[in-house]
Amino acid sequence: MGFPLTRLRRLRKNEQLRRLVRETSLSVNDLVMPLFTCPGTGIKDEIASMPGNYCMSADMLAEECRKIEALGIPAVLLFGIPEHKDDTGSDSYSAKGVIQTALKAVKKAAPGLLAVTDVCFCEYTSHGHCGVFKNGTVDNDETLLLLQKQALSHAEAGADMIAPSDMMDGRVKAIRQALDKGGFGDIPIMSYAAKYASAFYGPFRDAVNSAPASGDRKGYQMDPANSDEALREVMLDIEEGADIVMVKPALSYLDIIYRVKHEFGVPVAAYNVSGEFSCIVAAAQRGFIDEGRVMRETLVSMKRAGADIIITYFAKKFAEEGGTV
Ligand code: PBG
Repeated sequence: MGFPLTRLRRLRKNEQLRRLVRETSLSVNDLVMPLFTCPGTGIKDEIASMPGNYCMSADMLAEECRKIEALGIPAVLLFGIPEHKDDTGSDSYSAKGVIQTALKAVKKAAPGLLAVTDVCFCEYTSHGHCGVFKNGTVDNDETLLLLQKQALSHAEAGADMIAPSDMMDGRVKAIRQALDKGGFGDIPIMSYAAKYASAFYGPFRDAVNSAPASGDRKGYQMDPANSDEALREVMLDIEEGADIVMVKPALSYLDIIYRVKHEFGVPVAAYNVSGEFSCIVAAAQRGFIDEGRVMRETLVSMKRAGADIIITYFAKKFAEEGGTV
């Protein structure tokens, strides 16, 4: 049935019709807000490369989480910036570490908010790599042992979900075993399954001071040119016990989100990373684009591609502005 019997513009005539035929929706229910925490009290420092995002001490973080819970956002993803970094990133698995301290404050202030923790070493190590650094590379199997320690320590401090972002082989299985053995068989794992070696992490690395002191992360994070390999990464993580699989970054990898969702049909998260956020904010600050509209358009594109969950620095703004598309 061609033109003029068919006129697709008929259903675009007004907002009511457009609402009726809209295929994809987005709400606060889909969002996770990433937050940064540091030691101390009364600290809330804006991150220069990520306007509107702050590095907060546990007390200020708890206050922020209360607001986020009130806005209806289901979860936060917590990143710790420790006072002291060392070779093995020991703050990350210390009962008195920056994340463990923050978790206690957050769970007390906002008990109805899911506290998800990023499990990795790059924020905690003096060399800035995501694990045990030896002979110019990250030792996979030694890192697994420390990842188990870190994940268990987060769970003991009150984490509701563990999100490993290190990209070591076999880490989902190792973490699952450690959690189960520690009595945390009901704590889900959201794995950064297809995580690319991306330049879009730039603003985040400035925020947490985690750029590798030497070399890069291409020896463990994925090559942006690959797509079949992402499906293998996801397949292995599901086999190892991942409950949710993540694709990261989101915007340059919508095709990967689509393939993962259609191939496996498991809950998929998309990480709308720091560089994707900061590009939009910076362009909007110069008057080149409308921040709110571009935010909604990009977020809905991730949903349309197949993401069930979107981790985004826009979560709070989206919720404050009404919270639906
Ligand atoms: C690793 C980690 C990174 C991000 C999330 N977890 C940085 C990296 O791999 O270099 C990046 C998030 C972002 O850019 O928003 N701990």
